[in-house]
Amino acid sequence: MQSSQSSWKDDLSCGIKGIDHQHQEIFARFDYFSEACDDSAGGKEVLALLEYLDNYTVVHFAEEEGILERSGYPELGPHRKQHRKFLDELARLRVQIIDDGPAHSGVQARKKGMRQWLVDHIVNVDSEYVAHVVGSLSIDGDQ
Ligand SMILES: [Fe+2]
Ligand SMILES: [Fe+2]
Repeated sequence: MQSSQSSWKDDLSCGIKGIDHQHQEIFARFDYFSEACDDSAGGKEVLALLEYLDNYTVVHFAEEEGILERSGYPELGPHRKQHRKFLDELARLRVQIIDDGPAHSGVQARKKGMRQWLVDHIVNVDSEYVAHVVGSLSIDGDQ
C-alpha cells in the first residue's frame, strides 16, 4: 500500500527529517483507516486498517522513545505515558468498532479526538524535544 500525505500539513514538521517522515506515515495510515470508516467499509476492512495504523504507531513511538533515551531527555517518562495513552485509545477504538460498527457516532467521535491528539502531540509535545535531541546527539535536520 502506498502512503499518501493527504492530511499532512507542513506546519506539523518538527525539523528532524526522519521523525517528520514517520509522522507523515502515521497520518497517511490514519487517513486510510478514517476514510474506510466514512465509506462504510465492512468491519473487517476497517479493523485491518486500524491494525495497520497501530503497527506503525508502535514502531514510531518505540523509535522516538529510543532517541529520547539515548539523548538523556529528562521528560522521557511523561512523554512515554502520553504515547501509552494513545495506544490505549487505539485499543478502545478497536473494541468500540467491534461492538458498535465503524459508522457509530461514538466511533466517529473517538476517531476525531484521536486525530486531534496526534496534531496536538506533534505540535506541542514532540516539538519540545527537538532542540535537546539535535544538541545531544549531534544530528541535524536531515536525519
Ligand atoms: Fe511523541
Ligand atoms: Fe512522534
